[in-house]
Amino acid sequence: MKSSRTVGLMIYGLDEQARDVFIDEKYKGLAEYLSNHGIRVESIVYNNQKAAQLREPLKQLDTLLVWVNPVENGEDRSVLDALLVEVSKAGVAVSTHPHAIQKIGTKRVLHETKAMDWGSDVELYSSFEDFVGRFMGSLDRSGIRVLKRFRGDSGNGIYKVSRGPGSDTVSVLHAVRGSVEEHLTAPVFYEKFRGFFTNDQPLINQEWNANITNGMIRCYMCSDKVAGFGYQEIIALYPSAEKPIPPSRRYYYSENCGLFTDLRHLMEGRWVNQIMQQYQLSADMLPVLWDADFFINDPYVQSSHKYTLCEINVSCVSPFPESAIAYIDQEVKRRIKNL
Ligand SMILES: Nc1ncnc2c1ncn2[C@@H]1O[C@H](COP(=O)(O)OP(=O)(O)OP(=O)(O)O)[C@@H](O)[C@H]1O
Ligand SMILES: [Mg+2]
Repeated sequence: MKSSRTVGLMIYGLDEQARDVFIDEKYKGLAEYLSNHGIRVESIVYNNQKAAQLREPLKQLDTLLVWVNPVENGEDRSVLDALLVEVSKAGVAVSTHPHAIQKIGTKRVLHETKAMDWGSDVELYSSFEDFVGRFMGSLDRSGIRVLKRFRGDSGNGIYKVSRGPGSDTVSVLHAVRGSVEEHLTAPVFYEKFRGFFTNDQPLINQEWNANITNGMIRCYMCSDKVAGFGYQEIIALYPSAEKPIPPSRRYYYSENCGLFTDLRHLMEGRWVNQIMQQYQLSADMLPVLWDADFFINDPYVQSSHKYTLCEINVSCVSPFPESAIAYIDQEVKRRIKNL
């Protein structure tokens, strides 16, 4: 028989790593809070080798919350996502459900929501030939572009691209920490991106946002509610005359922080509803924990165009502000009741 109110918290770990959500700094606050509020918490460590043995135990849970990056240890999430779909079909409330990841958790969301207030000039290339045919036109239009692979994290697969020093070169800077700008001829440049189109995945091209120098706000969401904020002043690709500056620390704030009231109203009062309608997502299908990253275009102007979306994260949102924990607890209980 199914044990009631049991929530699995799944994190990634190799077998030789002794990880546990009750010990790990990023998750122990949540694990303890849920345990102290009437939920039985199971710590689940995942890697692809463990997928088969986890199948049946996972089906015994009421809810499964997953923190696994789009790419972990060089592997994508195809094995895990298939397992999560199966577990969800068996009646477990899974978050983030792979169908919701496909809808709002890939870089395609930038293209599909570019008409919203938070939108920017974004192109999507569905094939390598499409990319080669149109990319230089976008550089001519706006000088600097940012190429984004379909699914990634930590700046992996994010490239700032501009015209190079010679007439036939382009300069490319990877957003991964410690990267150095390369100057490439057009054929070498294109070849570098060919691999991103495997498995029919598209490549996304977003205009460079020079307001990156205002820092970035991470808006943490629990289903359709704002659950907290993060602010980071120096972020990847921050422009500098000399060598790249390493990202600064992110500071966390509760959902009530007055600095972000306007963004909270935009998210809860307008944008989340638009997203739910556009993608046919009910509040139950929205992730229990997700975030949206925003550039601050003009700090002095109060308008719905003050913020531009940089990306949405749904696969592995951690760390998260302490204020999110009570929201997660409430949302998990709501979903258990709905089962
Ligand atoms: N259009 C842009 N203009 C300027 N900088 C950008 C742009 N897009 C991305 N960046 C920079 O590159 C970083 C990584 O990009 P993005 O957030 O899209 O990818 P990610 O790898 O999924 O990141 P994360 O690990 O934060 O989830 C951003 O945090 C920002 O610093
Ligand atoms: Mg991301």
